[in-house]
Amino acid sequence: MKAFTKYKYGGPEILNMEDIKKPILQEKQILVQVMANSANPADWHTLRGKPYFARFAFGLFKPKDKILGADFAGLVVEIGPNVSEFKPGDRVFGELIDGGAFAEYVCAPVNVCARIPDSKDFREMAGLPIAGLTALQALTTHGKLEKGESVLINGASGGVGHLTVQIAKAYGAQVTGICSHKNIEFVQSLGADQVIPYDRQDIHKQNTQYDLVIDTHGNLTFDDFKRMGKRGILIGFTTLKHLARLLLQSSLSSFSLKQFTAKARTRDLDSLANLIKEDKIKVNIEKIYPYQKIPEAIGYIEKMRTKGKVVMVWKDL
Ligand SMILES: NC(=O)c1ccc[n+]([C@@H]2O[C@H](COP(=O)([O-])OP(=O)(O)OC[C@H]3O[C@@H](n4cnc5c(N)ncnc54)[C@H](OP(=O)(O)O)[C@@H]3O)[C@@H](O)[C@H]2O)c1
Repeated sequence: MKAFTKYKYGGPEILNMEDIKKPILQEKQILVQVMANSANPADWHTLRGKPYFARFAFGLFKPKDKILGADFAGLVVEIGPNVSEFKPGDRVFGELIDGGAFAEYVCAPVNVCARIPDSKDFREMAGLPIAGLTALQALTTHGKLEKGESVLINGASGGVGHLTVQIAKAYGAQVTGICSHKNIEFVQSLGADQVIPYDRQDIHKQNTQYDLVIDTHGNLTFDDFKRMGKRGILIGFTTLKHLARLLLQSSLSSFSLKQFTAKARTRDLDSLANLIKEDKIKVNIEKIYPYQKIPEAIGYIEKMRTKGKVVMVWKDL
C-alpha cells in the first residue's frame, strides 16, 4: 500500500510516499481502506518534532512512528479477533493517536472509531475527529457548559474554533467569537451571536465577562482569562514561555483555568456524528488536496490561517 513515511525530523519536504506492507490486524482492531484524511497542527508538530520536549514521546533522536497522520475516514475491509462493533463494509471515521493515518489502509482500534451517518460523505467526516473531539471536550468534559451560558472563543475561524462555535450554539450557549476581520462573516455564518476582530479591536483590553473563555489560539494572558471569564479552557499555545507562565499563574490562583489534550473515544465521536447528522454542525472544508499532495497540505496548515479544515482525498466515492 502507499503511505507517507518519515525517518527523521523536518518539514513537509522530508515526507516520502512509499509502497509498504499493509498493517496486520491485532485484537480489537479494524482494517480500514482510507478514503480521506484531514490535516491538524499535531501533524506538523509530530513531523518537525517540535516543541523539542515532545521528542520524549515522539522519539528522542528520530521519529519512532513511521507513518504520519491522525484523522481518517474510510471503509472497513476486515475485522480483527473479538470485534463485534463493526463489520466489513461499514463506513467509519476516527483518530489514530500514534499516527499512521496518511496511508491507503489503517489498522484502527475500535474504541477510536465510529460510524459515519448515511447522509454524510468521507471528506466531511475526515475533517471531524481531532478538531471536533477537542471542541466537544473543551465545552462539555472540561468547560462544563450549561444551556444559556455565554462563551468567548478565541481562534473561532480555525479547525477547532469553527466547530467549538457550532457545538456551543447547538448546546444552547450565547457565543462570541474572536477572529481576524476577514473571517467575521464566516464566524457569523457558523451561528456566533457576536464577533470580535482581533486585528481591529485590542482583545487584551476587552472588559465584557463570559461564563466560559476558550482559547484555541493560545495568546490570551492569565489576566485576560480572569478579566473576561468565570472559568477558562486553554487548547492551543503560541510559545512555550507563554504556556509555562499561564500554567504557573493558574497553579497559584483559585481561578479555574484548565488545559487538556483531547481524547479519542467512540462515545464522543458518536456525539459528533449525531450533531452532524442532525445538521447542527458542519465541517467547513477550505481546501481539498489529492493524497499525492499531502506534504503540500501540511505546509498550508502550518501557516495557521486555515478557515475550517483542510482535507486530503485518497479515493473518490
Ligand atoms: N489540546 C488539544 O488537545 C488540541 C487539539 C487540537 C488542536 N490543538 C491546538 O489548538 C490550536 C488550534 O488548532 P486548529 O486545528 O484550530 O488550528 P488551525 O485550524 O490551524 O487554526 C488556525 C486559526 O488560528 C487563527 N488565528 C491566527 N492568529 C490568531 C490570533 N492572533 N488570534 C486569534 N486567532 C488567531 C486563524 O484565524 P484568522 O485567520 O481569522 O486569524 C485560523 O483560523 C493549535 O495550536 C493546536 O496545536 C490542541
